[in-house]
Amino acid sequence: MSADLQARDAAVIAGIEKLRFFPASVVGGAGSYAYEAGGRRLLDLSASWGAASLGYAHPAIVAAVGEAVRTMPPVSLLSYAVEPAIALAEELLDTLPGEGERRVWFGHSGSDANDTVVRLVEAVTGRPGMISFIGAYHGGLSGSMSVSGHVSQTHAPARAGVIRLPYPDPYRPRHDGELAAAALEELDRIFATECEPEKIAAVFIEPIQSDGGVLVPPPGFLKGLEERCRKHGILIVVDEVKVGLGRSGALHAFALEGLAPDIIVFGKGLGGGLPLSAVVGPAEIMDFETAFSILTTSGNPVSAAAGRAVLKTLQEEDLPANAGKMGARLMTGLRELSNKHPLIGDVRGKGLAIGVELVRDRETKEAASSETAKLVYRAYELGLILFYVGTESNVLELTPPLNLSAGEVDEALDILDRAFADVEAGKVTDDQVAAYAGW
Ligand SMILES: Cc1ncc(COP(=O)(O)O)c(C=O)c1O
Repeated sequence: MSADLQARDAAVIAGIEKLRFFPASVVGGAGSYAYEAGGRRLLDLSASWGAASLGYAHPAIVAAVGEAVRTMPPVSLLSYAVEPAIALAEELLDTLPGEGERRVWFGHSGSDANDTVVRLVEAVTGRPGMISFIGAYHGGLSGSMSVSGHVSQTHAPARAGVIRLPYPDPYRPRHDGELAAAALEELDRIFATECEPEKIAAVFIEPIQSDGGVLVPPPGFLKGLEERCRKHGILIVVDEVKVGLGRSGALHAFALEGLAPDIIVFGKGLGGGLPLSAVVGPAEIMDFETAFSILTTSGNPVSAAAGRAVLKTLQEEDLPANAGKMGARLMTGLRELSNKHPLIGDVRGKGLAIGVELVRDRETKEAASSETAKLVYRAYELGLILFYVGTESNVLELTPPLNLSAGEVDEALDILDRAFADVEAGKVTDDQVAAYAGW
């Protein structure tokens, strides 16, 4: 049946949508496990790229979505005041610091949300420029791609006026000295020479750069960036799509560094697996113009009900705290594994947003890209799902459900230990992974 699904998938699903690491065919799931065709259970440390924030088939989502479908009000927020979306907007705003009137825009994905923000900040400020980061992934639509800097999107047309800065990487510092200060000096130099800061509408930043390699910025960097933005009237757009809503160990990842963003973008985990994104910002920006960015079914009652169930569960079960605790357990275990497995060059992250960078040599830090593909493939064979990211495709990304248990952490560490040993012993061949290019 698994082989059958692989063949049917190849026959009908567009290749441009695929990012495959192993031949998994899944037919169901519960909690932190995906069920493979044929009945095998796979512990899923990806949670579908972080979207399944409460795991699969969580009772709160099942109940809320079932009720929403049964009692469906009109679905388009564009032309009706619809209760579930309004309630979700109120509840989301209640979680956010900040003053003044704010508004919430709903969409279906992180991509459409960032896309909307790109157009909005340009239109509102009248400034054409944007600052973003090399390695950033803000989405797969034209606007959100134009402020991304990810290696997978070199096909995307360039947008004039976008300055891409290196995201400071504590494991691979580009300069001597204090890393945050050096990165900020680079920005100051750019402002003093090649780019007038008064032409920049906004900076787009991930509080932890995820697809670029799970990079945790050095302390002081985000605050320093904020200071410069304030000085020049540049809006700060924080992309919380992957690491927001509890994953970092705090409800909002930007709060860990005391950042005060102008605009916040949510996606993935907000819908708990259903299509839902949100942009929150000041009314004077968000109310810019009628029909500025309209999607017929955005904020629909089913997705909104899922979002409300996610927010309620996060708060009632204190899942940010669980992410902090389980993240610490997982990172401690991974660091212990690094004593046995020379491939592990660095373990980093916050809460349950964790990266493990694989290198061939800890001195030279040569990226172990093919070994990373093999590790992910072998882990799948042994019953564990995780993917890899990074500009050199050599960083394991762990974004499990936020209600992960201690037993599941230990199970994952046990499988990873065996997978590393097998890859180091040469048990996975180049041929086995050749068909799974990843990204
Ligand atoms: C930080 C970040 N922003 C935006 C997106 C785009 O979200 P989506 O793929 O759900 O449209 C992603 C997806 O990986 C992401 O990681």
